[in-house]
Amino acid sequence: MSQAASHTPAHALPSYLHSDRLGPWGIYLQQIDRVTPYLGHLARWVETLKRPKRALIVDVPIHLDNGTVAHFEGYRVQHNTSRGPGKGGVRFHQDVTLSEVMALAAWMSIKNAAVNVPFGGAKGGVRVDPKSLSLGELERVTRRYTSEIGIIIGPSKDIPAPDVNTNEQVMAWMMDTYSMNEGTTATGVVTGKPIDLGGSLGRREATGRGVYTVGVEAARHLGLEVAGARVAVQGFGNVGSIAAKLFAEAGARVVAVQDHTGTLYRESGIDIPALMFHVKQHGSIAGYAEAEPLPSDAFWDVPCDILIPAALEGQITTANAARISARLVIEGANGPTTPEADDILAERGTLVVPDVIANAGGVTVSYFEWVQDFSSFFWTEDEINARLVRIMKEAFGAVWSVAQDKKVSLRTATFIVACTRILRAREMRGLYP
Ligand SMILES: NC(=O)c1ccc[n+]([C@@H]2O[C@H](COP(=O)([O-])OP(=O)(O)OC[C@H]3O[C@@H](n4cnc5c(N)ncnc54)[C@H](O)[C@@H]3O)[C@@H](O)[C@H]2O)c1
Repeated sequence: MSQAASHTPAHALPSYLHSDRLGPWGIYLQQIDRVTPYLGHLARWVETLKRPKRALIVDVPIHLDNGTVAHFEGYRVQHNTSRGPGKGGVRFHQDVTLSEVMALAAWMSIKNAAVNVPFGGAKGGVRVDPKSLSLGELERVTRRYTSEIGIIIGPSKDIPAPDVNTNEQVMAWMMDTYSMNEGTTATGVVTGKPIDLGGSLGRREATGRGVYTVGVEAARHLGLEVAGARVAVQGFGNVGSIAAKLFAEAGARVVAVQDHTGTLYRESGIDIPALMFHVKQHGSIAGYAEAEPLPSDAFWDVPCDILIPAALEGQITTANAARISARLVIEGANGPTTPEADDILAERGTLVVPDVIANAGGVTVSYFEWVQDFSSFFWTEDEINARLVRIMKEAFGAVWSVAQDKKVSLRTATFIVACTRILRAREMRGLYP
């Protein structure tokens, strides 16, 4: 029986989910179960967190370049808006499902509350492989999807951002489409925009910088020296490449990198700027000659001190958790570790800095971008990075104290801090009508 199925009886599932195909939503529900005993009187509101406030499913039809019409499934889920408007990325991927977007939206609620930015949690996705589309087709998918979800997004309602396979250009098209429909230029409707369209300096690097910042804090608590530490990174996109670059600049050796096309290993450390340049030219790490290619499953056996999963969810499982030699796992990706794998890592003494704090740097600078757009006053990159680092360090410090105090994992501690904030807001607002 799958972990999701075995978990089902405790929860009244909405009719639109299948108990045997809960995917990441099943993992999220287990995380909520783990935090509930620590919520005190607020536990009476915990059901609020076990269902999304709103889920919109849209059809996205476009003309393909070959003259035919293709239809794609699109979603926008607003998990919780007790603390502010929805906020969360948009993913373009052929495997996107409603339950995945629901889980990603819920993790955004937790993340935004954990770093105390005034947003609820939301997420969107289109079930499409963007690599199979021409640039024109990608633009048409983006514009039609934005137009379809336009009824629930907006600068003070729900603000999308980039996620897997979406970037500044996609955000520019989303901003333009929403603005055209509204009849006014609404820069604040999305974050992660190009700088020339109201984007923020430092946003592109923010998630990786946040991963690095909390990683250094966690390493300090472990007595692990970053200079000379061996780092393995799964996923070499926005998050993974920047985190790898910052660790390398701090003197760490990035010994292994994996993306969807392959795995590279170099004991003395991979030249990260050179690999980034290769990816820019060729689209992936495949064919990079200055490191040894490994079979993809061997990635988990690579001797390392720090492991950064920065690709997709469900990567660290019972099948590989016991093979991981790292003392520190910093979750750049959302939901990379299953609850069972979490337990195995804990038993082995591996410290896991969970996604809901580790990758919150992106949404933190998205918050700065939104504030700058509203005030039409833009900050310097140094100011942005300094504020980001301060928020990440403070949030990590608070979570660390709760973990020590309650003798729980950093994940449960982050959920305690975040769920308390969300449910306190819920309680103070009361039920409408
Ligand atoms: N971009 C952000 O600001 C941000 C913020 C918070 C969390 N995240 C999370 O970080 C993760 C990565 O996001 P991103 O923006 O860097 O995406 P991206 O599209 O820039 O990069 C994704 C990377 O993962 C790799 N990948 C995909 N499938 C893989 C597989 N099966 N095995 C190994 N590698 C694989 C890709 O090759 C690519 O290198 C996602 O889980 C995302 O939700 C991103």
